[in-house]
Amino acid sequence: MCGIMGYIGDRETTKVILEGLAKHEYRGYDSAGIAVIKDGKISELRTTGRVFQLAEKVAAEHFTGDFGIGHTRWATHGGVTENNAHPHMSSDNNVVLVHNGIIENAREIRAELEAQGIKFHTETDTESAVQYLGWVYNGDPKEAIVKLTRRIRGAFALVIMFRDRNNEIWVARKGSPLVVGHAGNEGFCASDPTALLEFTRDVWFMDDDEMARITKEDCIFFDFEGREHEKKSMHLDWDAAMTSRGKYPHFMLKEIHEQPDVVAHSLLGRVANGEVDLSHELSWTAEQIAGWKKIHFVACGTSHYATIVAAHIMETLGNFEIRTEVASEYRYRNIPIGPDTLAIFVSQSGETADTLHAARLAKAKGAKCLVITNVRSSTIHREVGDALITPAGPEIGVAATKTFTAQITVLTLLGMYLAKMRGELSPETEKRLTTALMDIPSKLASILTQEKAIEQTARNFADARGFFFIGRGLAYPPALEGALKLKEISYLHAEAYPAGEMKHGPIALLDKELPVVALVPQGELWEKTISNIEESMARKSPIIAIATEGDSEISHYSENVIYTPKTEPELFPFIAVVPLQLFAYYVARQRGCDIDMPRNLAKSVTVE
Ligand code: M6R
Repeated sequence: MCGIMGYIGDRETTKVILEGLAKHEYRGYDSAGIAVIKDGKISELRTTGRVFQLAEKVAAEHFTGDFGIGHTRWATHGGVTENNAHPHMSSDNNVVLVHNGIIENAREIRAELEAQGIKFHTETDTESAVQYLGWVYNGDPKEAIVKLTRRIRGAFALVIMFRDRNNEIWVARKGSPLVVGHAGNEGFCASDPTALLEFTRDVWFMDDDEMARITKEDCIFFDFEGREHEKKSMHLDWDAAMTSRGKYPHFMLKEIHEQPDVVAHSLLGRVANGEVDLSHELSWTAEQIAGWKKIHFVACGTSHYATIVAAHIMETLGNFEIRTEVASEYRYRNIPIGPDTLAIFVSQSGETADTLHAARLAKAKGAKCLVITNVRSSTIHREVGDALITPAGPEIGVAATKTFTAQITVLTLLGMYLAKMRGELSPETEKRLTTALMDIPSKLASILTQEKAIEQTARNFADARGFFFIGRGLAYPPALEGALKLKEISYLHAEAYPAGEMKHGPIALLDKELPVVALVPQGELWEKTISNIEESMARKSPIIAIATEGDSEISHYSENVIYTPKTEPELFPFIAVVPLQLFAYYVARQRGCDIDMPRNLAKSVTVE
């Protein structure tokens, strides 16, 4: 949440910062701002709204500087106003900074400084940090930042400039992501490494309790006591082209279309000759695996739904004792966690605060931890260590799509691998599922050829009051994800229920304005789901059915059928989710919503 960019070098400062902020916009887009130092003076420009509006202001005012910092905001403390937009400046105009995170003791610091006569100008928690810095600064930035980090509590990534330091940007991190890059005579910092890709692919991921001084010449790292240390850089395996929209009107649509390739990449090197093998990524012995009696899946949002898919599949593969938990709850419940627990944390970004804190708790309680993430070297990856990477490439649309299919691919392989190592996966099941998995990319590609028809169905229902999504067994988790996609980007109310649960209450809501999206694959639960469809039809709800190709009966129940290719029953979620993503996309498009940056959301949720 919130995106930060800093630049020092010989290019046009505002251009680099504005481009960097545009790449960060999916982290927050309530307001944007930029500050530069020129001829020993700090100037800043801020606006509510988007980065392009800031760019218009920058151009209109010929705003320029020698080096600078920028911010795109997802409001936490203080309304969405220009005054609350970052950067924030100390009252003496000596210090300016941008911040991602929450300063928990901001009120206390503010009261203390106001008592000293310092005037505050905003409602933000961030202002307490900059005013404090202004107050303690006596010409030594490092010393002032050390004092600040001792005084503030909470989570922060801070990027700071001091008026009298004409070749220095300072950064400090605790709890919020921050990455630093240096190439030639240019230094950069950003919340998200994708913003640095066009400048450098060798970066330093800042750790907690670490700060750095970035100049044209170099980057020097210190701990929060001010002691200098060496730090190893990491090479990013993404490239700048991956962060462009290409021929698509929205990143979300591009990312939906990337899914056949993403699944193929996720299988690569993990499946061969009908067998699954993760031993090159997980150096676990059969004895260790046998010792983990409990499996905890912990994640948020879409990643949580991917774990529900995984749990359903794993239950069909072996005798696993599995829990799926929302990360923000896992931490605060008294769930038995110990050395007999394999705790698996799933996070696209690898920066989600709730998931990160849950992982720290499980680690502290002695569980074996594994992370499944799309961002190599993300905080959760660095902290947990053992990892399976989803090779989906950067996902820019706020609504997760391709990373969900990558996650369920990797999770399915993990479930198979664990079952195999425990001696519970028969060679026949292994062969059957690996063969079916290898066919998923072409099946997804065939669903994508139905895009026009799905668009038409979406248009027909774009004015609905809301939607129910129903499914049984393995059709239920993709229903959850389909409903989440729809509410995130179209702002329509959408709820998913196990189809059999509707009659226990939610059915009271049904009428002709509340369509039901029924996931009804052929198989043992088909008839039962059809009964639930009948119950909905009896309440006049229009039915949109996601059914299996060749299902000649389904047309008796719905005039709006999206047919999906046949696959093995366990893999239905792969096939079901893509039409649901397209459906949500086209409903939102018909309703004129801002698809890639839906209101109130941010891609990477770094606050609790
Ligand atoms: O980066 P993570 O996978 O940890 O993010 C978890 C959720 O915040 C995320 O899936 C969110 O629900 C997305 N907006 C889903 O589209």
